[in-house]
Amino acid sequence: MQVVTSVGERRNTKEMEVENVFHMNKGVDHTSYAKNSLMQRTVTSKAGPIIEESAKKVYNTLRPECLMMAEMGCSSGPNALQVVSRIIDVIEETSQSINRQCPQFGVFLNDLLGNDFNTMFNLLPNFNKDLQEAKGSSCGPCFVSGIPKSFYGRVFPDKFLHFVHSSYSVHWLSQVPRGLVSENGEALNKGNIYIAKTSPPEVYNTYCAQFESDFMLFLRSRSTEMVCGGGMVVVLNGSINSDDSDSILELLGSTLQDMVLEGVIEQEKLDKFNMPFFTPTVEEVRKLVEAEGSFALNKLETFTVDWSVDTSQNLETRAKFVAKTVRAIVEPFLTTAFNHAVIDDLFLLFETRVKERIARKTGEFFTIVLSVTKKE
Ligand SMILES: C[S@@+](CC[C@H](N)C(=O)[O-])C[C@H]1O[C@@H](n2cnc3c(N)ncnc32)[C@H](O)[C@@H]1O
Repeated sequence: MQVVTSVGERRNTKEMEVENVFHMNKGVDHTSYAKNSLMQRTVTSKAGPIIEESAKKVYNTLRPECLMMAEMGCSSGPNALQVVSRIIDVIEETSQSINRQCPQFGVFLNDLLGNDFNTMFNLLPNFNKDLQEAKGSSCGPCFVSGIPKSFYGRVFPDKFLHFVHSSYSVHWLSQVPRGLVSENGEALNKGNIYIAKTSPPEVYNTYCAQFESDFMLFLRSRSTEMVCGGGMVVVLNGSINSDDSDSILELLGSTLQDMVLEGVIEQEKLDKFNMPFFTPTVEEVRKLVEAEGSFALNKLETFTVDWSVDTSQNLETRAKFVAKTVRAIVEPFLTTAFNHAVIDDLFLLFETRVKERIARKTGEFFTIVLSVTKKE
């Protein structure tokens, strides 16, 4: 069955399923995303100067009375509102430096339907209180709302947004690429859950094609929603080489394979399971921004963050941290295929594999920061 969306693109119902089931671990307990997203906070903080520079440029160019900004893929937990605070700070400083009244702010926290928006909204009273205490009447009121909709497609009206930020979200695909399991049920990526050393080349090609079509749709949708002169910063998990297979998901896949050998998981389930994820190279991102054509490229930079963020800790602490970080992200999607009952054991074994791996060789998240301006 096909569904025609607001931008007219045809999407099938299987694709909608990922949209409806995908989310990070909810709540605020010890496995939640809210409590296990220091790695993502570190990434956004490193990209902070580029985010601030872009927001400042937008304000100086457009001087809106109410600055409309979208935080796309906000998840639940403190990260999204921290970056929003940072943007408000820089706009307030800039408006003061030119003796203008600080604008009002419309902040739109966007994520998929399954996101734990309640946990996010529970942080708003403190966010508003801190803003009021820090800025008083010098800063225009800030109106925050949640927008549950996939960013692969239209989310806002035409020419509505002045600033868009998205961090560690657009490497998640709109769907698991269709070609990974053939029409007659034959699995292409046996024993893996993402591109891995044992994956045939078609696996990379299939993933890459899905990313290209999703990222193009993301750019086209934002292009229509943003005003000319508006700014967008997208921070995403990337790769150094296009078919780089030495990723944390390769390690998680091989841990699942170990559990197959222990008889805990069925081989067929693992063979047919793949993550809706793709880490592009800088060149792949540049090519797509240029091909889409409606954004001027300001910056395209990269940096790395250690899987464990803090390499001064001992191996046990670091491995535990990495396993908790990964679990908070992938547990809900893993349980669409594997029984809940295996998850604790899976992540205990994964922690051991991470420890062995980082004792041998550093593991790093390669990050791409893209800063663009909507052309006239
Ligand atoms: C790893 S979290 C990052 C959250 C936050 N930006 C941060 O830095 O902590 C990725 C988020 O992207 C969201 N996401 C993935 N695909 C999405 C889509 N198509 N539309 C909206 N949000 C999406 C996920 O639900 C998840 O909450």
